[in-house]
Amino acid sequence: MADRPAAVIVLAAGGGTRMKSSTPKVLHKIGGRSLVGHALYAARGLQPDHLVVVVGHGREAVESHVRALDDQVLFGIQLEQRGTGHAVQIALEALPAAASGTVIVTYGDVPLQSSQTLAELAAQHQADGNAATVLTAHLPDPFGYGRIIRDSGGAVVAVVEEKDATAEQREIRESNSGIFAFDVAVLRDALSRVDDLNAAGELYLTDVVRIAHADGHRVGALTVDDLWQTEGVNTRRQLAKLGRELNRRVLDRWMADGVEIIDPATTWVDVTVELAADVSLKPGVQLHGETVVETGAVIGPDTTLTDVTVGAGAQVVRTHGFGAVLGPKTLVGPFAYLRPGTVLAERGKIGTFVETKNAEIAEGAKVPHLSYVGDAEIGAGTNIGAGTIFANYDGVDKHPTHVGAHCHTGANNTFVAPVKIGDGASTGAGTVVRREVPPGALAISTGPQRHVADWVERKRPGSSAAKAAAQARNEEARP
Ligand code: UD1
Ligand code: CA
Repeated sequence: MADRPAAVIVLAAGGGTRMKSSTPKVLHKIGGRSLVGHALYAARGLQPDHLVVVVGHGREAVESHVRALDDQVLFGIQLEQRGTGHAVQIALEALPAAASGTVIVTYGDVPLQSSQTLAELAAQHQADGNAATVLTAHLPDPFGYGRIIRDSGGAVVAVVEEKDATAEQREIRESNSGIFAFDVAVLRDALSRVDDLNAAGELYLTDVVRIAHADGHRVGALTVDDLWQTEGVNTRRQLAKLGRELNRRVLDRWMADGVEIIDPATTWVDVTVELAADVSLKPGVQLHGETVVETGAVIGPDTTLTDVTVGAGAQVVRTHGFGAVLGPKTLVGPFAYLRPGTVLAERGKIGTFVETKNAEIAEGAKVPHLSYVGDAEIGAGTNIGAGTIFANYDGVDKHPTHVGAHCHTGANNTFVAPVKIGDGASTGAGTVVRREVPPGALAISTGPQRHVADWVERKRPGSSAAKAAAQARNEEARP
C-alpha cells in the first residue's frame, strides 16, 4: 500500500464546446453522478491530504456543485485555458507551500477512472522511486492522444502530442491517459521551465516528463488494460457510451452480490442505489438517487424509482415514484404514481391508477383502484373504495384528511379536507364527506334515488334506447 498522496489534482477547467450544452461539461451525469463527481469519488478513495479542483469554464456552477459534494476541496481558478501544464501550476498555488511527496493529476471528464487504478499508480510510483509516473493505455486508435516515447532500453523519455508528433511517432499506440503521479518538488520545478513553443501554443503538462528525464530523474509508466478507465467525455455520444458501460459494471456488481436482473440491457441503476441479495429487477427498471431495495422485493417491469425505499418482499409493478417509503410486503401498482411523503406501512397496498402524495398509509391499509390520496393519514386495516379523491386543495391552501383504522369507504367518494373519518366507520358509494364521521357510523351524502317513469320514450321517441326499453317491458309483461 502506497503512502497517502499529498494531493490529488483534478483538472476541470476545459470548455466542453462539443457537448453543445449550456451546462458545463463536467456537470453532465452518468450513473446518477456528475462527471466531476466520479473523479472526486475516485480521488477521495486515496485519502489524499488535499484535493484540488481546477475550475474555469462555468466556474461558479462547477465550484458550487463540487463544494456541495465535498466541502474540503481546494479550488484553483484558471480564467484562461492555457494548457494542462498551466492548470497544474494553478493547482499547486492552491496547495500549502510545504506540501511534499506524491501528487496525482487526473481529469474531471474521465468518469470511469477507479480509486484502485489511482492507488496502483501511486504505489508503483513510490516503490520505483520515480519523479513522474504516467498511466498509459495501448489504444487501437490513438488519434488525438499524446504518445509515449521510450528509449531503446524501454525507459519513458517524453510524451509527444498528436499535433507535434512526427509521422513515425504517430504510429505509436501507447498513449497518455492524462493521469500522472509526480513528486511535488520535481513537478513544481519542471513546470516553471515549461514553455508554449508547440503546435497548440499551450503549456503542456506532458513536457514535465521530458524535463524530468533530461534532469536525470526516474520516469516510469503503468499501463492500464481496462481502456474504459482512461476514456474522457467530449461529446454527448461519448457520454451515452460511457454511461452504458458504467451501468453494465454497476449491474454486474449487483448480480455478483445476488441481485436478479432479468434484462441488463433495459435496466438502469445509479451508482448511489443500494440493493439487497435476492432483489429481482424485471425489464425496464430504472433506480435512481438514494433508492434502497430490501431483500426479496420484486421491482418492475417498467418502473422508475428515485429516492424510494422498498421494504423486504414488496412488489412494485409499472410504477413511477420519488421520495416514497414502501414497507415490507407492500403491493404497489400496476400504474401507481408515488410522490414525496408517501409512506406505505407493512402489507399495505397502493393499487392501479392511484396517485399518492404526503400520504401515510398504515399497516394493512389498501387504496386499490383509481384514486388520489394527498395530505392524508389512513389507519391500519382500512380499505378505501375505488375512485376516491382526497380533495386536499381548496385553490388556496392544502388541508389534511384523517381516515381512522379499519374503515370501509365506498366507491367514488370525495373527502373534502380538512376532514376526519372515525375508526371503524363506513361510507356509502358516492359519498362526499364534508363533516367529521363519528367512529362506527355510516356516512351517506347522496339523496334517495328517484325514477321518472317512461322518461326516455317520451323525450326520445323512436331512439334505440326507447326501443330497447319498450322491448324489455314487453318481455317482462310476457307470462
Ligand atoms: C491531454 C494530454 C494528452 C493526453 C490526453 C488524454 C496534454 C498537453 N495533453 O490532451 O497527452 O493523451 O489529454 O485525454 O496534457 N484542462 C484544463 N485547463 C487547460 C487545459 C485542459 O483544466 O488549460 C483540462 C480539461 O478540462 C480536461 C483535461 O484538462 O479535463 C485535458 O484537456 P484537453 O484539452 O482535453 O487535453 P487533450 O488535448 O485531450
Ligand atoms: Ca481531451
